[in-house]
Amino acid sequence: MTSFRPAPGWLADAVFYQIYPQSFADSNGDGIGDFNGIAERLDHLAWLGINTVWLNPCFVSPFRDAGYDVADYLDVAPRYGSQDDLAGLVEKAARHGIRVLLDLVAGHTSDEHPWFTAAANDPDDDRYIWAPEGRPEGFVASPGSRPGAYLPNFFDSQPALNFGYARANPAEPWRRPVDAPGPRANRAALRSVMDHWLSLGLAGFRVDMAASLVKDDPDRTETAGIWTELRHWLDGAHPGAVLLSEWGDPEVSVPAGFHTDFFLQFGGTTDGLPLRSLWSNGEGTVNDAWDPLDCFFDASGKGSPRPFLEAWQRASEALGDTGFISLPTANHDFSRLNCGPRTADQLPVAFAFQLTWPTLPAIYYGDEIGMRYLPGLPDKEGSVLGPRYNRAGSRTPMQWDDAPNAGFSTAPADRLYLPVDPSPDRPTVAAQHADDTSLLHLVRRLIALRTSSPELGSAGSVEVLHAGYPLVYVRGGRYLVVVNPQQNQVSYTYDDPRDARALETSGVRIERGTITAQGFAYGVFDLGAR
Ligand code: NOJ
Ligand code: CA
Repeated sequence: MTSFRPAPGWLADAVFYQIYPQSFADSNGDGIGDFNGIAERLDHLAWLGINTVWLNPCFVSPFRDAGYDVADYLDVAPRYGSQDDLAGLVEKAARHGIRVLLDLVAGHTSDEHPWFTAAANDPDDDRYIWAPEGRPEGFVASPGSRPGAYLPNFFDSQPALNFGYARANPAEPWRRPVDAPGPRANRAALRSVMDHWLSLGLAGFRVDMAASLVKDDPDRTETAGIWTELRHWLDGAHPGAVLLSEWGDPEVSVPAGFHTDFFLQFGGTTDGLPLRSLWSNGEGTVNDAWDPLDCFFDASGKGSPRPFLEAWQRASEALGDTGFISLPTANHDFSRLNCGPRTADQLPVAFAFQLTWPTLPAIYYGDEIGMRYLPGLPDKEGSVLGPRYNRAGSRTPMQWDDAPNAGFSTAPADRLYLPVDPSPDRPTVAAQHADDTSLLHLVRRLIALRTSSPELGSAGSVEVLHAGYPLVYVRGGRYLVVVNPQQNQVSYTYDDPRDARALETSGVRIERGTITAQGFAYGVFDLGAR
């Protein structure tokens, strides 16, 4: 197998910021965020030190899954503005040193996509997965003149594009091999979609449900083959672009062709344990299939950093310098950091860890000010996935200031995409901007420290001295980091004779061979060059 072109150099230093466009900034007062709103707020992101933004899907859509049901891959949803507005946003972002990634929904379309309408009325069309008669389990009855049923990929309104099956099964005659005409046409379509947006100046894609393409592909070999083919094409056609997968298993996705993959709330051999064992405190978005766990970033101190550290170690050894692992604070499908019993005073230590670990940090919009996950919101555009799994609470309007709509929009409150956090002491960007003791300023300083100290970035080594409370590690042989995400004071015997110069600390002391960390304390120290 020929190897891939190395990732573009900028990726190693990426600090990602995820924007849910509906909720970030509304420039025209219709209650829904838009491209011009984002463009007006780029100064906030540049000031913070962000260099790469990922936008959730912003394409034509009936919005039954918040835009993950695409009806036209090559045009933007009018509610966000025009394609020119997006191009303007990308240009303006570039002037701020910020690259923009779009979301590529590769595995399915909306049932309103013209490809699907055609397929629902043509028994010979194999762009989707169609059982010719009856309604096999998991399939949805045909809405058109074509008999039979189609396979959805997520909601029923999201028919799976046909990338073929990894193996045949005589009992399921609708299975096509991966090189059948439909699967080939779909792969070609992915290339044209990427080409279209990359030619407009976009820097790459976050790829939705990247592991889902080929069906009955238990070890994902055939799905990986599709991404390998696409990566080779991308390496030639758009060598500066990157692919960031929603796969949750970097050991598999990066060798397949992705430049980077997230640790996610799902995925891998332990169904998302690396990420959930850090952040997931049993409130916010909860999948009933998840076993209860004590997460590391919890006041109780019952968690452990080991599930994360072990998964990270294994994946980073497997990847070597072929790609990157990305660590999000949260995302539009998963609770924000500020959720359930976790209070605002527990957030700084989480960022101290995230921004000093070698993974590529991804900040979910609003987490930099500690916006709260809002429980109990009504379903909005498919946000509710289960009795305890409501994604709306992570998708509320960005809290810019203390105006009634938090500066998100001038629309009447009942016309907003989602309600603003009603709490009188909700955090806002404006207040935190004016207060250099705020979380926002801390996040900014930590990003600046990471950016100016190569040892703290993705290429710097990490030596874990203590994998518990406190978590103690040294980056690049030079920077000592101490994080204590629980409420009680803890200490750790430490015998490095070098002076430890405090760079960014709260509640951590180093004296006479002992590190003492108060509850929720963190510290980054410079030990000097060896
Ligand atoms: C994952 C996306 O992140 C999520 O929001 C969406 O509902 C599903 N994929 C289906 O596209
Ligand atoms: Ca708007």
